[in-house]
Amino acid sequence: MRALICLLTIVCLSACQPMRPARLSPMPSLIPQPVSVERAPGSFTLHEGAVLNVRARNAEALRTARQFAARLARARGLHLDVRPLADADADGGIVFILDATHLIPGDRLDEGYELSVSPRRIRLVARTPHGLFNGSVTLWQLLTARMQSRHALDVPCLYIVDYPRFAWRGLMLDSARHFQSPEFVEKLIDEMSLHKLDVLHWHLTDDQGWRIQIKKYPELTAIGAWRTPAALHGGAPRYGGFYTQDEIRDIVRYAAARYITIVPEIEMPGHAQAAIAAYPQLGVSGKRPPVSPDWGVHTYLYNVEDSTFDFLENVLTEVMALFPGPYIHVGGDEAAKDQWQASAQVQRRMRELGISSTAALQGYFTARIGKFLAAHGRRLIGWDEILDGGVPASATVMSWRGEAGGVAAARQGHDVVMAPSPLMYFDHVQSALHEEPPGRPEVVSLADVYAYDPVPHGLDAAQAQHVLGAQANLWTEYMDTPQRIEHAAFPRAAALAEALWSPRSRRDWHDFLARLPQQFARYRALGIAFADSAFAPDIRAVAGKRSGTAEVTISNQARFGKIRYTLDGSAPELASSRYAAPLTVNLPATLRVGVFDGRGRELAATRTLALSGLSLLRMNSDELKSCNPGGGLPLRLSGPGKNGGEDVYRVDIFDPCWIYPHVDLEKVHAIDVVAGERTYNFQLWHDADKVVLRKPLSPGGELRVYLDACSGDALAWIPLAGAANADATARLHAVLPARTGTHDLCFTFDRATPSPLWMIDSVQLLPR
Ligand code: ACM
Repeated sequence: MRALICLLTIVCLSACQPMRPARLSPMPSLIPQPVSVERAPGSFTLHEGAVLNVRARNAEALRTARQFAARLARARGLHLDVRPLADADADGGIVFILDATHLIPGDRLDEGYELSVSPRRIRLVARTPHGLFNGSVTLWQLLTARMQSRHALDVPCLYIVDYPRFAWRGLMLDSARHFQSPEFVEKLIDEMSLHKLDVLHWHLTDDQGWRIQIKKYPELTAIGAWRTPAALHGGAPRYGGFYTQDEIRDIVRYAAARYITIVPEIEMPGHAQAAIAAYPQLGVSGKRPPVSPDWGVHTYLYNVEDSTFDFLENVLTEVMALFPGPYIHVGGDEAAKDQWQASAQVQRRMRELGISSTAALQGYFTARIGKFLAAHGRRLIGWDEILDGGVPASATVMSWRGEAGGVAAARQGHDVVMAPSPLMYFDHVQSALHEEPPGRPEVVSLADVYAYDPVPHGLDAAQAQHVLGAQANLWTEYMDTPQRIEHAAFPRAAALAEALWSPRSRRDWHDFLARLPQQFARYRALGIAFADSAFAPDIRAVAGKRSGTAEVTISNQARFGKIRYTLDGSAPELASSRYAAPLTVNLPATLRVGVFDGRGRELAATRTLALSGLSLLRMNSDELKSCNPGGGLPLRLSGPGKNGGEDVYRVDIFDPCWIYPHVDLEKVHAIDVVAGERTYNFQLWHDADKVVLRKPLSPGGELRVYLDACSGDALAWIPLAGAANADATARLHAVLPARTGTHDLCFTFDRATPSPLWMIDSVQLLPR
């Protein structure tokens, strides 16, 4: 094979006939990085109307060719003439060849391809339709490697041999916490396929909604798909939705045409509150709960009667008819056992079954469902808790509580999919910037994801073979729009794709960064609301040494690109002033900052910061310090916005308490606090007793301001009664009593119950 590669390379090299001494074009911006790319001098020019020959008696190959042509037309406005079954390699065109005898050494998954570009033609060869599709994605990237002319595209001569490292290259989409339209699910599938991701794990049922039509049990969607959102003053419209079986069939077909397998998840025995709301006889108490409007760990479990297994098997029968893939995900996570422990009926059933613990009962539950799936030719996959109660060897384990579950499972001979929290939890924010959308505040940066290796330490070579791959999870408690999902997914999914596809030896963070601007251009062409957090300027200002000035530092997370700024209100460009060291600026000032790559392409959207004497005495909720650093349960939550709309607040939901450090009280006489309230919709299970409540002094509660320690006598307190208005922020003003020296100011809200949750947006110190 090595000889064949050389031969093909030589053919390409000699065909390229450089006019001048050979000069290689830059490496093309491909993501994920192929196994091998050999460049040759010269280039191929693709013209409008060029022929795309499909040399295969195979409908899938033709479909891939047509899809590729449509994608090219969409991104570049250039149209190809797709011709099935033409047997000549036309000059000036592209040929796709499906050849079952064409082996690619090293391609153990049969998903590989070879792609050669010579001045006469582009030739893509694969052994399988999936391989051909993968090659067409690489070719599409080559043809979108620069977004210059629309009428003819130059592609440098090269020869690529490529195949994936892992079979399971996935994203998980949570459609239960928030529902996405079928159109968006298909858009995400399209976006995944352009990263050569090939598994969509679809989280379809949970406490907050049942999203898949099951014909035998219509109440699952008539009742279970709809919830009344938690709202402070009631009156919120019902929220929900579900996918009909026709819509699911369309989505499955759409995914299959892009070589993406959908793994449906039907949660059991926990995360079952929506199902029990629809059919209370499935639950332990027999009572009908609401479909939950809350986030967190709920305690509703299915009971363990035969009738409930009949229900689950009937549901799974309809699920299997819709999803043809080998895996069915049955959840298994966070099944709080309180209800099983408290139920005489469940305890009696355990005695009948000879089961001595509720953990073992979950094992029995999973094994029984696993047997049913196996009898129908399917494989059970579940979150790593399924290991706790003992599980059949044929079960595949999805490791989420870190990597330990994956390591234990692989050592026991289970296949494993890695999805460890927090690295693979894309509901974490991507940077420390205040503009980040709601989510979990511990940063999972692009660099963190890029550095991830799916094979955990501690496995020997045979055990490592059990690692099928990895996936990132898009939990949607805090992502209520398609834009927020895309922002969370991209470009981190590009980093994940490279971790899952490319050989370790081909992975290089700085090279990846250099390829990203072009990926961003593709995202723009496709209308993907990606995050530029890795490159975005992080602008920090403090009072300057001279009065009336500020000292400004600017950085970006990836430490990549050229930072340029203006102070005259104009948009920064590559020729604008270069940021090299902290700046001293006269106040007031409007600083506009851009970040560019070496070719002048914008890496991040321009950020603008208005600086004044007052702005230096203001901190937002991300700048204020937490009263429990490293502890509590901090979240970035949405709440009312200053001008209507919505703001994002960082708040510890165990103890909403913030510190403004080092305030010179001789210079400050009053404070303005902007705050908002929202309902407290968190179920904390055994952590509920960690929620700190402070006895209010007045009926509506109050904001208290302390000096230094967050207890004792308050320096000031501001009643909230007149301020409450869930649709708008409140401005809370207090004059501070005269004090000397520099102190921390601590802010807490007095409240008798967790709801409403008051949150600080910002604290403005007002000078004397
Ligand atoms: C999970 O995050 N509960 C799997």
